[in-house]
Amino acid sequence: MSGDARKTAERLAYLTGFGNEHGSEAVPGALPEGRNSPQRAPLGLYAEQLSGTAFTEPRAHNRRSWLYRIRPSAAHPPFTRADNGAIRTAPFTETVPDPNRLRWNPLPQPPAGTDFVAGLWTLGGNGDAAQRTGVAVHLYHADTSMDRVFSDADGELLVVPERGGLLLRTEFGLLHAEPGHVALIPRGVRFRVELLDETARGYVCENYGAPFRLPDLGPIGANGLANGRDFRAPVAAYEDVEGPVEVVNKFCGNLWTATYDHSPLDVVAWHGNHVPYVYDLRRFNVLGTISYDHPDPSIFTVLTSPSDTPGLAGVDFVVFAPRWLVGEDTFRPPYFHRNVMSEYMGLIEGAYDAKAEGFVPGGGSLHNMMSAHGPDRETFDRASSAELRPQRIDDGLAFMFETRWPVTLTAQAARAGHLQQRYDDVWRGLERHFRPLH
Ligand SMILES: [Fe+2]
Repeated sequence: MSGDARKTAERLAYLTGFGNEHGSEAVPGALPEGRNSPQRAPLGLYAEQLSGTAFTEPRAHNRRSWLYRIRPSAAHPPFTRADNGAIRTAPFTETVPDPNRLRWNPLPQPPAGTDFVAGLWTLGGNGDAAQRTGVAVHLYHADTSMDRVFSDADGELLVVPERGGLLLRTEFGLLHAEPGHVALIPRGVRFRVELLDETARGYVCENYGAPFRLPDLGPIGANGLANGRDFRAPVAAYEDVEGPVEVVNKFCGNLWTATYDHSPLDVVAWHGNHVPYVYDLRRFNVLGTISYDHPDPSIFTVLTSPSDTPGLAGVDFVVFAPRWLVGEDTFRPPYFHRNVMSEYMGLIEGAYDAKAEGFVPGGGSLHNMMSAHGPDRETFDRASSAELRPQRIDDGLAFMFETRWPVTLTAQAARAGHLQQRYDDVWRGLERHFRPLH
């Protein structure tokens, strides 16, 4: 099964471009020409609109797609409540917000038979899903492909694989995401996750707010950071399955389940811009100083979910990709800082240049609003005395979910056995060097 899925994943074709009005048909003639909702859709299909933004949002930000499917989504039985497992949703009230610097080891191995949804484990978040504000930070660890279908009405899901490839079968077609890629499933889009390796582990940013978009570039100009052409949307592919299919729907924080008499992944053609996509983080065009100091890490923003205040994101997705450091007379690792924004960091592979040890692939750290952090002592000592030649940082791939509100932990994250108990120690021994002149 896994071998077949990997062959499928390796054969996939994609449409490219971020936010573009794409169209795709799995069967010639399935996509109507000239109108969205003809009196009779082609080939006996049903036409259905999926709106990811309000009908009236500005054209530049409007997201919607038209789906041409074997049965309309409306044809389903009632949903009934299902167990939420380890998934939690904003508002997060299980613990009081914690000002301490916190760091976790990777999630433990799940029980055998855990699929992607059962393997989701919520670390914390902010905002309010029903108000469509804020984010949740989840991790996942699974060892089994889903045989059910999932959709999330509460937000879009930015999936960041750290271990194990994924084949995501979505209403729009198939996506292949390996560690080093990210996959985005828009709000409400149904999908199934198949594992391409023995286990799958990674991170998920569930964004309740405005859909992620590319950041504006200002004086950088028309090119740089993540280029729109590198975002890949699936070509249409559908399942024509009659028979019981479990569909799990996350709605206002709870999981609901229904058994359909057909697969809802039955979209034969579609067009629009509310679509899933994958992006290879190694395509990121890293910019930085060519003189001295270094820019704020916002220069590494891949995607941003803006708020109503210009420049203030609900959440930014930021990547620390391989790059050259060339700053003259510059302390080159990330500087000591305190930030009004709250930072959850994860590591996809290798090491991160601000920490000597303890921050491992699959683990994560949380530096909440105004909590002081920066390089550990070993990194500080090394970087302060290093001979400054051009230096390539190429042994790690780290990322950050940076959000405007503090991240409040779930009880399971606050009490987790894999929460490190002595993280503060990395800043111990930062010696006094002050020598006032007399
Ligand atoms: Fe930071």
